[in-house]
Amino acid sequence: MTYENDSTNKNPAAAARGGELASDFTVSVHYDSRLYHEDIESSVAHARMLGRQGIIPADDVDRIVDGLAKIMAEIEAGEFEWDPELEDIHMNVEARLYELIGDAAGRLHTARSRNDQVATDTRLWTHTACSRAFEAAGLLQTALVELAEKHIETIVPGYTHMQRGQPVVLAHHLMAYFEMFDRDATRFAQAAESADVMPLGSGAMAGVPYPIDREWVADQLDFSEISRNSMDAVSDRDFIVEFLTASSLAMAHLSRLAEELIIWSSDEFGFVSLTDEFTSGSSIMPQKRNPDFAELIRGKTGRVYGSLMALLTTIKGLPLTYNRDLQEDKEGLFDAADTVITSLESAAGMISGLTVNADRMRQAAENSFVLATDFADYLVGKGVPFRAAYIAVSDLSKQCIEAGKGFGELELEDFQAASTLFDEGVLEITLESAVAARDVAGGTAPDRVRAAIAEAKRLLAEAD
Ligand code: ARG
Repeated sequence: MTYENDSTNKNPAAAARGGELASDFTVSVHYDSRLYHEDIESSVAHARMLGRQGIIPADDVDRIVDGLAKIMAEIEAGEFEWDPELEDIHMNVEARLYELIGDAAGRLHTARSRNDQVATDTRLWTHTACSRAFEAAGLLQTALVELAEKHIETIVPGYTHMQRGQPVVLAHHLMAYFEMFDRDATRFAQAAESADVMPLGSGAMAGVPYPIDREWVADQLDFSEISRNSMDAVSDRDFIVEFLTASSLAMAHLSRLAEELIIWSSDEFGFVSLTDEFTSGSSIMPQKRNPDFAELIRGKTGRVYGSLMALLTTIKGLPLTYNRDLQEDKEGLFDAADTVITSLESAAGMISGLTVNADRMRQAAENSFVLATDFADYLVGKGVPFRAAYIAVSDLSKQCIEAGKGFGELELEDFQAASTLFDEGVLEITLESAVAARDVAGGTAPDRVRAAIAEAKRLLAEAD
């Protein structure tokens, strides 16, 4: 095999742009420069493979690999001069390689296209983002478990329709979020698996006419699999949609948690207070500590949903194979990854530093009718059909409200006026007995919650 150099063109990478100024409209380097690590890493593996297969000369491989290492160092030192005229990360790196090593640079793009290159870079980047999101979810889960462990006996009203419903222990409420973030973590792990397929070797879309070794490259880049169809490999971005879906659901859960922290830290509730690190003062009202982090998590949920919707819309109706529309995949991906990871980490920080006002929680449960279901259940224990028991206790609570009394102030006679089947046993129903009675798998009985926390810790240790 002979290798020829076309020395008439000093920078073919730049020339490939057609010599025209790129209009801002097509430029992506201001954001896709974030792919530099993946881009250089995959170029190194590709160049080495070309050398091993005898497709390009070994000394050119050395020059290419050295040059790419220099470029990596320049970028990391902040010394690389990004040129928007070269449009994207790929052309910027290749053009710089020409400056550094001359014509040997022209061999790097043998048996490769920007189409399989960008798909490969983006898959590598998404895979890393999935791992980071998975870890951040784990941080938050750990914070939730640690706080829950301290509040296995702390009683708080459980709400439906934002009305006090039944007493629960605070740990049970916190562990509900543990479950949500556990599923989110699983989804990030699944998205990582979907991203873990290497497109390189697909060329522009039909494959390449060189004796390449895709398996070897995949191995170098830590991909578990290579893509089975070149046309699919260069033109689908479903793996990003999966990451954005996982991110959107995580943001939905974070937003619920944030909302509760906002409500619970209000003067009206006073259930919790957030550390100063996660609040800020008002510019005019000196007394205020605003829950800004929680509000921003809630607010930023929208932009992550937006990225998901944008990409779903971008890919619909695209004819096979690569179309430039696909360049629109990256900004949403980067933004969503930044947002979901920082939001998970901030939520972990808020939960770790949370001060719980157990007395306020207890008062809220005491000054309420959260034991109503337990009184009805008591009558059921005496043989009354649940519906009839429900009506008796409903009447009783209406009378209490009229008389301005709480359940705690009722005498046995008051109960018996509602149903003759009430006896002294009813006076033993307390917030504690109510939670302890919910001794079913998944229930709020402290022993069940203790077991759930132990199981959660086991899951976290396993994921580590
Ligand atoms: N910047 C482009 C993108 O992100 C790279 C691929 C360009 N390929 C092409 N045939 N124009 O999609």
